[in-house]
Amino acid sequence: MSNNLPNHVAIIMDGNGRWSMLNQCKNRWDGHKYGINAVRDVIKGAVEKKIKTLTLFAFSKENHQRSAFEVNALINLFRECLTREIDQLIQNGVKLKFIGDINALSEDLAIMAKDVEHRTKQCNQLNLNLAINYSGRWHITEAIKSLITNKEGSINPDHNISEAQITKVINQDFISEPDLMIRTGGEFRISNFILWQLAYTELFFDEKLWPDYDKYDFFRALQSFSKRKRRFGLEDAQEQFA
Ligand code: FPP
Repeated sequence: MSNNLPNHVAIIMDGNGRWSMLNQCKNRWDGHKYGINAVRDVIKGAVEKKIKTLTLFAFSKENHQRSAFEVNALINLFRECLTREIDQLIQNGVKLKFIGDINALSEDLAIMAKDVEHRTKQCNQLNLNLAINYSGRWHITEAIKSLITNKEGSINPDHNISEAQITKVINQDFISEPDLMIRTGGEFRISNFILWQLAYTELFFDEKLWPDYDKYDFFRALQSFSKRKRRFGLEDAQEQFA
């Protein structure tokens, strides 16, 4: 594989429900449990390839409208997983950060998330961002609200609200914007993921359902990225001589 690897990869882990149906599971949400194996394998792959940051979309604000059974099953899975995997994460140098409105989903999960962030804050092999009860539009709205409320006196939109300021506020949870975004499950959409940060991200779509995904699938996406030519809105020649 070429050395042109992404620093930051974001993933929409889709297809767990369909996987459950195809594999005759009792409930459509059983697939999330099997999806953990894929999460573990991809984290291993990311550490192996020395990827700096991985951002995983684990639960969207829209997912909150699913049945209470499924929402509770996912919250329990997050709790179990964080308790069970924390030592392994620390051993592998994985620093966890959570983005999203976790408090509105579960107060005890939010407390647990803070504790895990604290316990892994010295780790420096991989930054793992978990998006839980997250939506891109919510994140942009919160960033604008915070720019307005942190300002004393009147707001001058031309001075107080700019692309650079919104980027600064919204990216405080991220080391960088993603170079590559992968979506599994054969759908071709962004589904309200990190909208602001995806402006110039390369996209890769995989037919595989998330529980079947492994680090070799992840490496295929990295390989595809390594052949891409990124221009960030410039012409070919401008980019070469910049
Ligand atoms: C989308 O599949 C997947 C989710 C809503 C949840 C993904 C979460 C995990 C794999 C667990 C991750 C846990 C940690 C701690 C990182 P879907 O149900 O929308 O699938 P479908 O499109 O087939 O219905």
